[in-house]
Amino acid sequence: MKCNYHLFRRLSVYLLIFFVWFGTEAFAQGSVDEYVQRMEQERTDNEAIEQKIDELIQEMTLEEKVGQMTQVNETFFGSDGNTGGATGGQANVLDEEKLRTTLQKYHIGSFLTGGIRPAEEWYRLVDKLQHINMEESRLDIPVIFGIDHVHGTNYIKEGTIFPQQINVAATFDTTFAYQTGVVTAREAAPLGHHWNFAPILDVGREARWPRLYETYGEDPIVSAKMGAAYVNGIQSVEMGPHKMAATAKHYLGYSIPESGWDRTPVEISFPTFQERIVPPFDLAIDEGIKTVMLNSGEINGTPVHASYRIITTMLRDQLGFEGVALTDWMDIIKLHSEHYVTENEKESTYKAIMAGVDMSMTPTTIDFCGHLVELVEEGRIPMERINLSVRRILRLKLQLGLFEHPYPTDEYLDVVGSEEHHTQSKQAAEESIVLLKNKNDILPLDDAKNVLVVGPNADSRNVLAGGWTYTWQGDDESTYPRQMKTLRQAMKAEFGDAEISTAKAGNLEKAARETDAIVVAAGEKPYAEGWGNLNDFDLPDEQLALIEEAAATGKPVILVLIEGRPRTFGTLIDKVDGIVFAGLPGYYGGEAISRVLSGRVNPSGKMSVTYPFRQAHMITYDYKPMQYSYLNVTDSLAMRYTIGKYGNRIGEFGTGLSYSDFEYGQIDLSDTLITGNETLKATVTVTNTSDRAGKEAVIWFVQDEVAERTRPVKEMQHFEKQLIEAGQSKTYTFTIEPQKHLGYPDANGNIILEDGYFTIMTGNSSERFYYETE
Ligand code: BGC
Ligand code: BGC
Repeated sequence: MKCNYHLFRRLSVYLLIFFVWFGTEAFAQGSVDEYVQRMEQERTDNEAIEQKIDELIQEMTLEEKVGQMTQVNETFFGSDGNTGGATGGQANVLDEEKLRTTLQKYHIGSFLTGGIRPAEEWYRLVDKLQHINMEESRLDIPVIFGIDHVHGTNYIKEGTIFPQQINVAATFDTTFAYQTGVVTAREAAPLGHHWNFAPILDVGREARWPRLYETYGEDPIVSAKMGAAYVNGIQSVEMGPHKMAATAKHYLGYSIPESGWDRTPVEISFPTFQERIVPPFDLAIDEGIKTVMLNSGEINGTPVHASYRIITTMLRDQLGFEGVALTDWMDIIKLHSEHYVTENEKESTYKAIMAGVDMSMTPTTIDFCGHLVELVEEGRIPMERINLSVRRILRLKLQLGLFEHPYPTDEYLDVVGSEEHHTQSKQAAEESIVLLKNKNDILPLDDAKNVLVVGPNADSRNVLAGGWTYTWQGDDESTYPRQMKTLRQAMKAEFGDAEISTAKAGNLEKAARETDAIVVAAGEKPYAEGWGNLNDFDLPDEQLALIEEAAATGKPVILVLIEGRPRTFGTLIDKVDGIVFAGLPGYYGGEAISRVLSGRVNPSGKMSVTYPFRQAHMITYDYKPMQYSYLNVTDSLAMRYTIGKYGNRIGEFGTGLSYSDFEYGQIDLSDTLITGNETLKATVTVTNTSDRAGKEAVIWFVQDEVAERTRPVKEMQHFEKQLIEAGQSKTYTFTIEPQKHLGYPDANGNIILEDGYFTIMTGNSSERFYYETE
């Protein structure tokens, strides 16, 4: 029954696309018909919910409806009027009078805030907020509370902090993405955090972008699979009646700014967009994600918040999304204040609502409400348009059970930061560390007596967790728990009797006399969003000088990179013996790195982004052949050096070393020719020829050898991680489905399949097969 219903809904979506495609639209865009039809289509089979919505829509005034479409921050309930939680300080204390006024005047349906608070305080804050709201709300409509728990419950004082997404992706095991989602909902949902602004589904294809660490890396399929696992985790949790909605953000195309800076314009071709940027959103929607947050930016000259095509045609009609579309921070206002596509806020409001926005994160001003009311009263925006969004918002609240159980609970406080959750965070951190270089097996340092640990990232906690940890920028060291270990503290604990010494830049030669190895902890300080924009992609000069100085001592040097994105260091790669890319491993980062260095943990992470060799080598692993053939013939010495030795990268996506030795056998294909929809089974046996157990993620790539449109040199299509005991073998399988793995979008974005040879690759094995359409 349910199945038929969904089939029917899918079919009607296809029909709709069909009509739009052939110009004989079933309705005129922006007409009352359109909204009525959409409302009909979006009705779920839960009659109780739909009837409740019908009743409320009947009863609500225009002002009340507009209030539901508004999300404000603590400016409207916090005691001192500033946005303390945002910029670093404590989230504000609730000012009852201010909140009542806000609710009486604007009937606000949603609030958000950030900043660190103890779990119990969060509970009390949201409880009070909701009680006051329920007293004020004429129709007893609960508010929905939003927050950015983007890597675990990073705004709860005792909460479990996971590695950032860039690290979770490096584990190549979706279990960790799933667990991050589950833990987040278990800890935060009971406290009244109903709506989490994660996962980040922007594909991290621009390494300079300061939000790279928030992504699941550069590959669309890794991002999609990790994202879907997270969504599945977070939205499946029920703590008594308490649930949490996830957010697919930032829809769509935020992560590839031409300048590399945050919130700057994007130019991209439609097929590339379809192929590289859309998949994670597509899968999250299939997974039933309840909300999306829109991208603040502009794509090919159109701000997303003003684009009917992107937020209605693509999102609703093509991807089949039926939940709530929320703006990002102040983005309606930015249509006139930054994009200059309208003259003023009222026109911006008109444009955004007509494009398909359901809720505006205004969030520090509130003129949105007045403008929207006027626009409806003037007849420029039909009431049906408002009803469409309000229905979605009420449905979200009903599905979360908020009408029946509006108040949070302190019943589950002991779940927050529980041992079980910490164990998962620790394991995720350990599996996310990537070993990139290990000359003469310098690592592990199993019998070192003295290790000199230097560098700016050895002695603070915040560098391990990065932005969005306790505060927005994540850089307030005083907010970090004392039990969390810095790298040096963790090394001391891990290395037991060995001495962990230190020295300042300029003194390494002397300090290193007795040492067995020097660990240079380099990288970045925490940042979030535009605060992390770069002037220079290299590591800072002092750090380059420190690596140089360490190398000059003649002792083995291990470079540990703790950073939200790769930062280049050029030929210094030759001067160091070991390189560990730690990314932003979170609360257990110090321990995880130390255990990899000591050998207690056998590294099994692989790069989720490509680490370029030099500033001018910004490239993802799935580049086009032409991008490299030019480099290969160039006379430039630098280029030849680079190509010959490193292939322009310090660590390509999907690479990473282990202390075990894994040997890949030949790929075994179930056939060498497939036709139409036939599938092909590829298997490979990997043998651990070493004497220590290790985990190996097998990553399958496919190359379309000759095609009408140019294809990348390879594309990741499947991955699987398994533990292989010493001396044992494991078999890995990948079933190739032509439509899914061999097709690609033509100029119009339609997936096409072509006859021809394909190469399938994993490890150092490859095989060819032929595909024919019929
Ligand atoms: C908020 C962040 C937000 C940023 C937008 C800060 O004040 O806390 O959550 O992303 O402003 O600029
Ligand atoms: C960020 C979002 C975040 C929002 C709310 C914005 O500035 O871009 O990712 O969810 O603020 O804090």
